[in-house]
Amino acid sequence: MDMNNHRLTISFCLILCFNLLIDRLAIAIEDTACLFCHQYPGLVRLEQDESIKILHIDPERYQNSAHGKFGCTDCHKGIKKIPHANATQLNCQSGCHQSESKQALFSRESLDSIHQDQQSYISRMEDQTTCKVCHPVYPHSKQPFTRTWLNMHTSYLICETCHLNKEEYPEVTYQWITTRHVEFQGESFGSYFDPDKKHTARPETSLSRIIPVLRTNGVTRPLINIDDTEKAKEFMASGAVADPANMELAMNYYHQHIGKMNVATVCDNCHTTDGLLNFRNLGFTDARTKVLINININSIVQRYENFYIPEMLK
Ligand code: HEC
Ligand code: HEC
Ligand code: HEC
Ligand code: HEC
Ligand code: HEC
Repeated sequence: MDMNNHRLTISFCLILCFNLLIDRLAIAIEDTACLFCHQYPGLVRLEQDESIKILHIDPERYQNSAHGKFGCTDCHKGIKKIPHANATQLNCQSGCHQSESKQALFSRESLDSIHQDQQSYISRMEDQTTCKVCHPVYPHSKQPFTRTWLNMHTSYLICETCHLNKEEYPEVTYQWITTRHVEFQGESFGSYFDPDKKHTARPETSLSRIIPVLRTNGVTRPLINIDDTEKAKEFMASGAVADPANMELAMNYYHQHIGKMNVATVCDNCHTTDGLLNFRNLGFTDARTKVLINININSIVQRYENFYIPEMLK
């Protein structure tokens, strides 16, 4: 072998190694990209038929799973760009499960449950608010690119924290309310506010969420409706609900303090310095406060062209 050939072999090796390295990096970067959004527990979509689809993938559990060594797009061939609502094209056969006997293993159930152990969400929560009588835990279904993010927040915030007509209550402030006996599928998440220690911890079965309150003359009044809950239940169980006129009356009544859609609070109102909520005063640690203020909303949602309804910013 002469010198030139030798050099060629070496550079060939280098190129090969480099390519292998790039390949590995590509997989790592690509997984991080998907998990940048999909890492959050409670990312849930409400479907047309009122079932739910869980979109959370826990990075650590994924890595330790049977398919952990694969890149997400090895199977999710259909997802090439963001946004990718309703990207359902899958490929399990290329290079892996090729033989017919193996393909026969792919029952619908086994496909549906492929990420099951990597997903967490709230499976049951009775919080006594009127809203819960008519709306599910994960209530948002309309806007493809915000619904899952908004749904995730119902494990952090009571509906009114976003939906209250704030023009009606200029003096509103925020504090914690705790719901007991919350059931989590997978691992618990969100916050439990310990009133004695005045700080937040990971919940077990008691979940604390943020509510709007009014403080007047030393008296704190929660700005949520729990007084009409029995009445709402009776209405929904009665024949009256079938009459559109009755329904309209009820809606006007139960939504009386709900702001119009264009004043609903959006991402940037909270995830910013001097936002709606003072995370530090609420008991979040400095480190957590920093995370919540600096969440890169731009890369999470503003990739979605029509994320904002323009009036919402007014
Ligand atoms: C071995 C193949 C495979 C790999 C690798 C894989 N997935 Fe999946 N994924 C599936 C299958 C199968 C489904 C179920 C599809 C269905 O029910 O229609 C699914 C469903 C999903 C869903 C929808 C929620 C659900 O449970 O139906 C999300 C979100 C998702 N995957 C994200 C990811 C992310 C992020 C990665 C990489 C970290 C990844 N997947 C890696 C096969 C895979
Ligand atoms: C910028 C955030 C973001 C990134 C990055 C992202 N996703 Fe998603 N993904 C979402 C949201 C939000 C939804 C739910 C959209 C909706 O409400 O229909 C979703 C839905 C899905 C679904 C369910 C599709 C369906 O309609 O059933 C799959 C599967 C999925 N993503 C896989 C992936 C994979 C694989 C990657 C990486 C290549 C990825 N996602 C990257 C935000 C993201
Ligand atoms: C008596 C049943 C009932 C109660 C109680 C109720 N809602 Fe509704 N709500 C509905 C129905 C039905 C709709 C219309 C269907 C839909 O958009 O999901 C609706 C729609 C909404 C909308 C969308 C309005 C729009 O303009 O599109 C919001 C926001 C809302 N409800 C929030 C709440 C909140 C917050 C509470 C608790 C304070 C609450 N609702 C209590 C039944 C109820
Ligand atoms: C993080 C803030 C936030 C929280 C918490 C929140 N919402 Fe919403 N909600 C919004 C925003 C913003 C919209 C408007 C979304 C859009 O149409 O783009 C909305 C829209 C809605 C709609 C109509 C659109 C749809 O997707 O169906 C209903 C119904 C609704 N919310 C009910 C509720 C109920 C019930 C709760 C409490 C369980 C709740 N929301 C908690 C911010 C929130
Ligand atoms: C009313 C205030 C409020 C609004 C509006 C809001 N958030 Fe949040 N968000 C919070 C709070 C509070 C938490 C964390 C609560 C906890 O950890 O208990 C949070 C948590 C998060 C997290 C998880 C951070 C982590 O590290 O766990 C993400 C991501 C996020 N929000 C994105 C969004 C996006 C996207 C929107 C708009 C669709 C939005 N937020 C709107 C208050 C808000």
